[in-house]
Amino acid sequence: MASRRISLGMPTPRRTDETAALPDTSDRPDTPALADRFGREATDLRLSLTDFCNLRCTYCMPESGMAFLKKDQLLSVDEVVRLVRIGVEHLGIDQVRFTGGEPLTRPDLEEIIAGVAALEPRPNISLTTNAIGLDHRAGPLREAGLDRINVSLDSVVTETFERLTRRPLLHRVLAGIDGARAAGLDPIKVNAVLLPGVNDHELPDLLDWCLQRDLQLRVIEQMPLDADHIWDRGSMITAGDIHQMLEPRYALTPVTEARDGAPAELFEVADRTTGTHRGRVGIIASVTRPFCADCRRTRLTAEGRVRTCLFSREETDLRTALRSGAEDEEIATIWRAAQWGKKAGHGMDREDFVQPERPMSAIGG
Ligand code: GTP
Ligand code: 5AD
Ligand code: SF4
Repeated sequence: MASRRISLGMPTPRRTDETAALPDTSDRPDTPALADRFGREATDLRLSLTDFCNLRCTYCMPESGMAFLKKDQLLSVDEVVRLVRIGVEHLGIDQVRFTGGEPLTRPDLEEIIAGVAALEPRPNISLTTNAIGLDHRAGPLREAGLDRINVSLDSVVTETFERLTRRPLLHRVLAGIDGARAAGLDPIKVNAVLLPGVNDHELPDLLDWCLQRDLQLRVIEQMPLDADHIWDRGSMITAGDIHQMLEPRYALTPVTEARDGAPAELFEVADRTTGTHRGRVGIIASVTRPFCADCRRTRLTAEGRVRTCLFSREETDLRTALRSGAEDEEIATIWRAAQWGKKAGHGMDREDFVQPERPMSAIGG
């Protein structure tokens, strides 16, 4: 079927703030890449597949009162695959990470991954998940083309897990991790956000638990992306605190490989008493040591809007163009224009910093 041609801005890309127009691109060089004004090029696409989650982590979602997107508002399998194809073929995307909410709550995740794995050039495909249900799905997901997973797990102590996630489901997460390993997914990284007085005191034991199972723990500074707005700069656990908590038991030495834009700073871990090398740990210090200058990310929300940063307060709708018969190159042009407007950084240290409207669950980590 011949597709109807549209011109840029027709239908008007929907933005959630008062700015009606796309960024001025008159100073944009004529490059196919997702470039921005600060010399960065996005090659890493993070695509949220749903805003729904089966946990209610306190630093991410409120206990109740969330309104979730309806099925017809979410991108379909074909729409996701098409947008990723445009990213890969027109914009230089070479990594795709599916996030949520919880991406495993989409029953069609295997289909989406198979569609993306068939693209040329094939991007690296990863998933950030809470692992609930992964015991049954890791095999089919791997077969579909999933390359690697990161599991969000802040505590392996039943009571703490329940307090943090408001759900008694630790056993399901642990079964999911076992399933991922049995399916041959490698590496498996574990993401833990530290909350003062909740799980911070468990950190040395959590690291030991991960090292014993050949899981790479990444300890994360909490960011102001929580629905309840409980984040507090003064009491948050910083990278400095994390080093202090680990040092009595472990000696950490920075790895020698280049960081390559990754959020995690990696360290080799040795037992302090025996000197035995145990593995690696990552620290993701988005607040106290921002890595925005090396950011290579572009994001799509579950309803098909470009967010150029986790902390964006502006979004650019691609779904309307997608559903109105726009050509690939027209959609690519809107996406490039949106990315050109990416800010230098999250600006958390600025007086005028304002937390985005969307909680993390609706952005995708
Ligand atoms: P790898 O490719 O495995 O290194 O993944 P990743 O660390 O980029 O992805 P993951 O989804 O596991 O994210 C880990 C944590 O990094 C998240 O929980 C966030 O706290 C943080 N993070 C992810 N993306 C961004 C980002 O774009 N900006 C900032 N500031 N933090 C991010
Ligand atoms: N700060 C830091 N990390 C967060 N995550 C969710 N909310 C926050 C926050 N406020 C992490 C989760 C998960 C990933 C998707 O994002 O722990 O690993
Ligand atoms: Fe990139 Fe924004 Fe994350 Fe900084 S905060 S690393 S600019 S997405």
